[in-house]
Amino acid sequence: MVQDVSQALADLRFHHAASRGLTTQTLFEQDPKRFEHFHAALDDLIYDYSKQRLTAETLDLLFALARAAKLDERRAALFGGEAINITEHRAAMHMALRLMTPGKPMFAQGANVMPEVVAARDKMCVFAQAIRDGVITATNGARFTDVVNIGIGGSDLGPAMAGRALAPFVADHLTLHFVANVDGADLGDTLRKLPLATTLFIVCSKTFTTLETMTNAQSARKAVASALGEQAVGDHFCAVSTQLDKVAAFGIKSDRVFGFWDWVGGRYSIWSAIGLSLAIGIGRDAFEQFLHGAQDVDEHFLSAPLDQNIPVLMGLIGIWNHNFLGLSTQAVIPYDERLGRFPAYLQQLEMESNGKSVTLDGEPVTLSTSPVVFGEPGTNGQHAFFQMLHQGTQPVPIDFLLAATPVRADPRHHHLLAANCFAQSEALMRGRSLADVEAQLHAQGLNSEAIAKLAPHKVFSGNRPSSTFLYKSLTPRMLGRLIALYEHKVFVQGVILNIDSFDQWGVELGKELANRLVPIVADATASTDALDSSTAGLIAGLRAFERG
Ligand code: F6P
Repeated sequence: MVQDVSQALADLRFHHAASRGLTTQTLFEQDPKRFEHFHAALDDLIYDYSKQRLTAETLDLLFALARAAKLDERRAALFGGEAINITEHRAAMHMALRLMTPGKPMFAQGANVMPEVVAARDKMCVFAQAIRDGVITATNGARFTDVVNIGIGGSDLGPAMAGRALAPFVADHLTLHFVANVDGADLGDTLRKLPLATTLFIVCSKTFTTLETMTNAQSARKAVASALGEQAVGDHFCAVSTQLDKVAAFGIKSDRVFGFWDWVGGRYSIWSAIGLSLAIGIGRDAFEQFLHGAQDVDEHFLSAPLDQNIPVLMGLIGIWNHNFLGLSTQAVIPYDERLGRFPAYLQQLEMESNGKSVTLDGEPVTLSTSPVVFGEPGTNGQHAFFQMLHQGTQPVPIDFLLAATPVRADPRHHHLLAANCFAQSEALMRGRSLADVEAQLHAQGLNSEAIAKLAPHKVFSGNRPSSTFLYKSLTPRMLGRLIALYEHKVFVQGVILNIDSFDQWGVELGKELANRLVPIVADATASTDALDSSTAGLIAGLRAFERG
């Protein structure tokens, strides 16, 4: 019988209280085959969640919660193209962009979108390959050497993260650059190192109104026009947007404009033409492999039973950690240097999607929603913030990511990387007791007084939860899988939290106030009387510094 959500939550609270003393150390002692029982696999990817602080009973209760929240129905609504983004009356159909099975339909609000999707994908991939192969050239007839993606948020983080992750697959003669910030240093520093005569600019913006992107695009256009002449602008610019009329007004040739649809959220748009810079870099075949990887996960998410369904497990474990164990952060630590921007990418995916305070009905949400997501690659993080992860007062759940075999990297380094990754999750789980520390210090010859003073500083509580993704190697297909796993994890959590994971009203107020302040900041004589005293004081300070 399917329970209601409040009963399922109450059962979990009761279970948490009853199992409060249980530690991961004990769980491993009690079940020597814990890894076997608490991991899932998808082809050449293993998801090990055995070091999480949970039991088989915890999982059963979490599955009951998922059933009570009607995960099946909501997932069917997502894949069925219903307008599940209720505040914007839109479907969230990014899965259509990576549906690679010929002839298979997919619907957004009743219409089969696949003919349009396939045509747009084809147009984008043909263009990307032609740039890569030098069939489409710069104004001077030379091959493009540099590609600059101008965009921000979902129009930047996806291609920037993936361009770095898949660097070994990027053609040697091409360099990808990403300009996002309205801070003139971003574009300025990039322009300084570019050969403009062989640089292609891609202006990426779903809305084609975003202040940062429009400002950077106008400045880049000016730079090209002044270096190469106005007639070169058409050859050196292209655009990706859902707002084709606005792109035309900017002056970009229609055959250089790549569209997508309002049922693709910005943070889910890497699979669309927003991936153009990536497609140019890695070429059509590899880009299609990237899409195939995400499709693998869509199929897995739809068909795998709950206890083997990786995004479902990821989502429910996150809910358990945050809402029952009270752990309000989530670190993502790739032991994979090229995944250096993956944590930032996931910050937008998780925090913009699930950083909400009201339910679908507009009522205050009673559960804690998005955790704070952060991370840096290992081993670097070990020498920076891992101190807090091991001994701080607030345990931080961690996702570790590691490839079994490196791509274009010295294999002699790789065992060191892998050993460090495994050692960290082991240390976090196992810890080191006071008795062990005392014995160790005693063996080192310290006297009892010195031991008593030093020992407490060297104790590790352990019992700190982590999961590890171990995959064969970071290929385009694997990257597609990793991203899609997290996308569906976020969806699962949104279902449990009963929130709209596909809108982002929380970014609007700041934009509105910035627009109000721009004329006041730009005009030293404008009155600040209507502003609060802090904002007025800061503007007065800015003006004083500007005057010198
Ligand atoms: O301000 C937030 C946001 O709307 C993100 O959701 C989006 O990815 C980003 O800005 C960029 O928007 P656009 O692609 O429309 O320029």
